[in-house]
Amino acid sequence: MALISSSGFDPLENMKNKNKPSLPKPARIPKEKEEGEIVVRSEVQPEDNAEYSLRPESLATYIGQNQLKESLGIAIKAAKQRKEPVDHILFYGPPGLGKTTISMIIAREMEASIKITSAPALERPRDIAGILSSLKPFDVLFIDEIHRLNKITEEILYPAMEDFSLDITIGKGPTSRIKRLPLNKFTLIGATTKAGSLTSPLRDRFGLINRLNFYEVEELKEIIVRSAEILKLKVSQEGAIIIGERSRGTPRVANRLLKRVRDFAQVNEEKLVTAEIAIKALDLLNIDHKGLDPTDRQIINTIIDNYNGGPVGIETLAAAINEDISTIEDVYEPYLLQTGFLNRTPRGRVVTHLAYKHVGRW
Ligand code: ADE
Repeated sequence: MALISSSGFDPLENMKNKNKPSLPKPARIPKEKEEGEIVVRSEVQPEDNAEYSLRPESLATYIGQNQLKESLGIAIKAAKQRKEPVDHILFYGPPGLGKTTISMIIAREMEASIKITSAPALERPRDIAGILSSLKPFDVLFIDEIHRLNKITEEILYPAMEDFSLDITIGKGPTSRIKRLPLNKFTLIGATTKAGSLTSPLRDRFGLINRLNFYEVEELKEIIVRSAEILKLKVSQEGAIIIGERSRGTPRVANRLLKRVRDFAQVNEEKLVTAEIAIKALDLLNIDHKGLDPTDRQIINTIIDNYNGGPVGIETLAAAINEDISTIEDVYEPYLLQTGFLNRTPRGRVVTHLAYKHVGRW
C-alpha cells in the first residue's frame, strides 16, 4: 500500500530530521513519566495515570502470567544476543490484565522507548507514517485496540512490519511512482480484546501471539500486597485475599479496589486493613464475594426474569439493561464466562445453575 504524500506530511523530511517529527507534539504523561517513554496522541484512560506508579517495571517483579513471562524472557534475550528488535507481538484478552504494562516492560528490557497509541487515534495515513518514521532502533510501538485500525493504516503497516519500510506515492496519476523509505527496526505490539476481529494478513505478521489470562486469587493477593507497600498502606494477608477474591481475576480491578478500601480505612481511622475492614468496604461498594458488581447481577437477573434463563441475543440483552454491547462483551461477559455463571450458545447467552444460586434464585 502506498502512502499519498499530498496529505501535508512529508516523510522524506521527517526521515532526514528525526528529532523534529512533523506530527503534532506528542502528549506526554504529565507526572511520573519515565525516561524514554511517550504517549502519542494520548487516549489513556484516567485510571491508567493513577495506576502508573503501581505498574511493575521488570519481568522479575511482574506477578502472574508465568508462561508468558518465560516465553517473553527468552524472546527478549535471544533478540538482544542477535542485536535485533523483538519480533512483533500481539497480546489479546480482557481489559486490565496487563497488556500495556508488559509492553512497557519489553521496551524497558530492550533498553528502548515505547510509543503508545490506539487504533482510533490513527485516522489518517500521516498519523501512522509520522509515528513510524520517528521510531528509533529497537523502539516499541504499542497500538491498543488494534482490531479497530482502518484499512489504509493497516496496509501502511504491512511493509513497515515486514521490511521496515514506508511506501509513499510521489505524484498523481499515470506518472506517479512509489518510493520506499527505510525505517528503523522496531517492534510493533498490538493489543486487543477481540483477537477474532483482526484481519488475517495483519494477524499473520505477528511473530508472537499471546493470550493474557485471568489471574489466580493468590497472584492478585501478591499484587495487592505489593501495591499496598508502594501506597504505604498496611494490609494483612487475609485482607489482601478478600480484595483479591473480589477483583474479577484482574490486576487493574485489584488496584482500584485497594484504593477504595484505603479510603474506607482512612475515614474510619483504621491503621490496618484486616479481612473485616476489606469486607465492610467492599460490601459498601456492592461488590460481592465473587467480585460481581450491580451490573453483573443485573445481567444475571435480567436473563432469569425476562428470558427464563436464556438463551437471549446480546443485542436484546444490551437493550434490556441499557448498556453498550461492546461493554457487555468486553468487560462483563468474560468474567461471567470464567466463573461459570454464563454460557454462550449459538442461540444466545444462557445463565447457569451456579448463577441462579449466586443471586439466591435456586
Ligand atoms: N500491578 C498491576 N499488575 C501487576 C502485576 N502483574 N504484577 C505486579 N504488580 C502489578
